[in-house]
Amino acid sequence: MVKRDILSVLDMRNDLERIVDLGLQFKRSRYSEIPSMKNRVLGMIFEKPSTRTRISLETAMVQMGGHAIYLNPNDMQMGRGETIEDTARVLSGFLDAISYRAFSHQNVARLARYAKVPVINALDDEEHPLQIVADLMTIKEHFGYLRGLNFTYVGDGNNMANSLLLGMAITGVNITVATPKGYEPGEFYVKKATEISHETGSRVSITNDPVSAVKDADVVYTDVWVSMGQEKEREEKEAKFREFQVNEKLVSNARRDFIFMHCLPAHRGLEVTDGVADSINSVIFQQAENRLHSAKAVLYTLIGF
Ligand code: CP
Ligand code: NVA
Repeated sequence: MVKRDILSVLDMRNDLERIVDLGLQFKRSRYSEIPSMKNRVLGMIFEKPSTRTRISLETAMVQMGGHAIYLNPNDMQMGRGETIEDTARVLSGFLDAISYRAFSHQNVARLARYAKVPVINALDDEEHPLQIVADLMTIKEHFGYLRGLNFTYVGDGNNMANSLLLGMAITGVNITVATPKGYEPGEFYVKKATEISHETGSRVSITNDPVSAVKDADVVYTDVWVSMGQEKEREEKEAKFREFQVNEKLVSNARRDFIFMHCLPAHRGLEVTDGVADSINSVIFQQAENRLHSAKAVLYTLIGF
């Protein structure tokens, strides 16, 4: 059988909503009716910290009867110069799948090229596909459907913005991304999402005006202004992003029954105020919990039997 990697949301282009529905089904059935992953082992390489991704993947494997191993590159020979290519070939002899949180998308692609088992991108500088499955699950759980909803992302045009553009376009959700000038999402992602939106009948808009972006939004989403690895840019970004804070005033332009989402961790008082993060519109902890059920759906799709 040909192995399947998930390096980008594009790798779920043909079955993204099916994976979302599987996550919803796993959530409803909790511990019953979850297929067995007995003896399956996931290796999880993390070059950066993680709360949700690590714990949801590990818990998902354990609850499905399998096992997960946390791998810090500094505790492996990778940290002493063993190549990614050799690591991929060696790990393939032990593991059934590998997840990789990396600084560079190129390195995730290198691992996938040489691994004989499926590789899952657990966040890199370009994308965060696992988060998208949980996000779509949360939106569908709340509204009952996806197609035609208005989704607005406010903040940095980062890995989350890139992956959200693809995920929303693929599932027919209209997406508007509002960033300060110079911080727009990657050109490739805007172009690809626009192309896909023409097929799915959704709309993709990129703007530098947060107020008009939020108008009529069903979902308002934000992420940190300073992603892991960008710490040097903190001061400059905090000054430039002020108008892009998701606060009570900004969300007063959204639909009255909008939901607020954030992949977390949140930097409260910067990209979002407590007033919004803790409001009745906020679904951030439901969204975080859905990382577990969506991880099961992704893992089952790749290595279930
Ligand atoms: N949202 C997310 O990926 O969180 P972690 O960095 O805690 O994994
Ligand atoms: N954009 C953030 C997402 C964290 C889940 C980062 O890369 O740090």
